[in-house]
Amino acid sequence: MKRIVVLASGRGTNLEAILEAVKSGDIAGEVALVISDQAQAQALQRAERWKVKALYINPKDYGSRDQYDQALVEQLKQEKIDLVVLAGFMRLLRPLFIRAFPLQIMNIHPSLLPAFPGLNGVGDALNYGVKVTGCTVHFVDEGLDSGPVILQEAVPVIQEDTAETLHQRIHASEYRLYPTAIDLFCREKLKVEGRRCMIID
Ligand code: GRF
Repeated sequence: MKRIVVLASGRGTNLEAILEAVKSGDIAGEVALVISDQAQAQALQRAERWKVKALYINPKDYGSRDQYDQALVEQLKQEKIDLVVLAGFMRLLRPLFIRAFPLQIMNIHPSLLPAFPGLNGVGDALNYGVKVTGCTVHFVDEGLDSGPVILQEAVPVIQEDTAETLHQRIHASEYRLYPTAIDLFCREKLKVEGRRCMIID
């Protein structure tokens, strides 16, 4: 069984979808730990409800971003984590963290990357006027939303959309896509060659 940590700063609805998928056997792994950088994150409350170990690690307790990320690495190594899942984690991880878990960190982004990376993927797509956007699960490298793409799903933009309604439909797609990608990782079905991530039998 692969041991998964979910890092989340906010509502944690993707976390909830992942925990449900684990429970129903759709992810061949276990969520060993949830970590947040926000004391008030709903994600922490969700973890507690699911009886999953939940930690708030406060960035203000550390002198620098490197020290914070080093503390995370130590915690995850101690817990023998195989996969780091970012689910609305609003901090850029430092290279020392990325290098400690090569091709073992996944993120979900609410656009079809490489279009609209960054903090406002939904609003940027809407303002640009694209007719199709979506979500992307990718491995995390040292860039911003730039690692190898694992899965993507398209979501049409409709004329009446606001950022809120569009994000709601993208979320619905995320709740399917993220557990699928995590399960593929847990069953060792993902193989990365350069930028291309293959699904193997
Ligand atoms: C999701 O839209 C995800 O794409 C982005 O952050 C949001 C997290 O939402 N990276 P939630 O906390 O899982 O509800």
